[in-house]
Amino acid sequence: MSMWWKLFLGYLLVLVVALSALSAYLAHELTGHQVASLESALYSQALLSRDIAAIDFGSPQGRTHLNTTARRLGRETKLRVTFIARDGSVLGDSEHDIRTMENHASRPEVRQALGGVRGRSIHFSQTLRTTMLYVAVPVVLRGETVGVARIAMPLYAIAAATRRMRWMVLSAALIALAAAMMVSAKIAHNVGRRVAALSNAANRLASGDLEARVRVRGSDELATLASVFNDMAVRLRETMRALREEKHTTDTILERLGDAIVVTDAAGGIIVWNAAAQRVFGSGREQVLGLTVLNATQNHSLDDAFRQAQAGGETVTAEVQLLFPQPRILQAAVTALTAGEPLGAVAVLREVTELRRLEAVRREFVANASHELQTPIAAIKALAETLLADSRDNPAVVERFLRDLESQADRLAALVKDLLDLAQIEAGPVQLELSEVSVAEVAEEVAAQLAPLAEQRGVAVTCDIPQQVRVVADRAALRKIMANLLDNAIKYTEPGGEAGVTAQRRGDRIAISVCDTGIGILSSDLPRIFERFYRVDKSRSRELGGTGLGLSIVKHLVEALGGDIAVASEPRKGSRFTVTLPACG
Ligand SMILES: Nc1ncnc2c1ncn2[C@@H]1O[C@H](COP(=O)(O)OP(=O)(O)O)[C@@H](O)[C@H]1O
Ligand SMILES: [Mg+2]
Repeated sequence: MSMWWKLFLGYLLVLVVALSALSAYLAHELTGHQVASLESALYSQALLSRDIAAIDFGSPQGRTHLNTTARRLGRETKLRVTFIARDGSVLGDSEHDIRTMENHASRPEVRQALGGVRGRSIHFSQTLRTTMLYVAVPVVLRGETVGVARIAMPLYAIAAATRRMRWMVLSAALIALAAAMMVSAKIAHNVGRRVAALSNAANRLASGDLEARVRVRGSDELATLASVFNDMAVRLRETMRALREEKHTTDTILERLGDAIVVTDAAGGIIVWNAAAQRVFGSGREQVLGLTVLNATQNHSLDDAFRQAQAGGETVTAEVQLLFPQPRILQAAVTALTAGEPLGAVAVLREVTELRRLEAVRREFVANASHELQTPIAAIKALAETLLADSRDNPAVVERFLRDLESQADRLAALVKDLLDLAQIEAGPVQLELSEVSVAEVAEEVAAQLAPLAEQRGVAVTCDIPQQVRVVADRAALRKIMANLLDNAIKYTEPGGEAGVTAQRRGDRIAISVCDTGIGILSSDLPRIFERFYRVDKSRSRELGGTGLGLSIVKHLVEALGGDIAVASEPRKGSRFTVTLPACG
């Protein structure tokens, strides 16, 4: 039921009750009042009629005149006038034939009048067939009641007045009803509009429009409700803003974190997956949100860690190996989230791939270094034992053994020197003294230093560098770089081959190339030749006094000087190592 109907029916009820009570009361009052005033008028008429007729009551002859008197008085007053004898017989009547009228002694007004007082009565007149008001007074002659004079009047005039009054009340009721309809319509419209505005604003608020407000008008309950609503909306907006800021902060922290963060809810679905997790697992946030850890990562050890953490309520650590999108090793710490009830779990995954790789490299390096050192030491020990045991008398054998001893000791010394160099370079930034260095000068120095080796191996060495080519570098480091490269070029070239050093400017850099016409390197070995101890042909290198450390020292030094190194090689054709360094000026 609409509000209008409710209001209207309320008004209607009040109106019906009030107006019925009013009309009943008015009818009663009005009738009583009119009857009373009519009665007093009739009373005066009765007194007058009595006085006019009193004499005639005295004699039998006079009584015969009473009917005529009654008719005359009736005509004049437009009232019914009746004269009644003491015994109740009707002596005169203005409206009716007295011969047919019954004895009136039992009529209440007559009885009262015969008793000596004013008589009154309202009853239905059988004679006139209408309700009449009767007033009767005693006729007294010489102290004796001889009869009654009665005046009567029909009450339909009063009934008509009451009817009129009822009509008035009814029309007033209709007017009031129309007014009630209008007022309730107005109230319903006004209240309805304001309630609609409120519910409209509430709907907007519910659908996320935090700026929804209601106009506050007036000072009634609705206005209070509206202002409470507005306060609530403001508080809601503030709370939402605070929450958003907090979430933003948390999100930013999660996104910036280098560690991958994965959070699941109580049902095991992923709810947080930060940028690091995307990078590590190779799946975007949208792809994995809501999935289980197993479905999202395809990784059983991580899934197990989640299960254990949630079952045991403690932090579980696990090492997680990934093959896709890249082989990685992650250290995972998974903790259950609880607040009275289980809320899920959070995993922090730190990438330890590089750490593990370095550990492996270090282990390998120690094993390699020990092995490399072991070989010459064992050889020296064996030579010394043989010398001590039985070869002392043969000077030729002794000399050969001593030469072998010397060469093994040289090898050991070279190895230790290279290891020391490498250790020094790897320990931290090399102390470099940068200055302008002439590439030609250094190349010629190195060529001169290696001339005996080149001659011994039958390799022709050429230096073709313009004097003005200069680089910014540490002179000793540059010499070590070039010595190692030229040493390799001479060693890995067959007799009759050539080795050469050239340099040229490329923009603000100088490219120094060491090339040879030697044995070259297979493309499958190329990526590994800069690793420590890596040698394509171990026995050949060892025979030539190589340690496998030369190129890794070169690479470290070039990088320390801010340059880079590249290699191009073809088996049985030759190799070209190119070092690029900052040019001078
Ligand atoms: N110019 C070159 N021609 C052919 N192979 C080379 C050349 N330079 C280096 N190599 C290969 O790279 C390996 C590593 O070189 P390096 O680190 O200098 O060690 P080493 O010279 O002590 O053997 C060598 O053992 C060799 O197999
Ligand atoms: Mg070498």
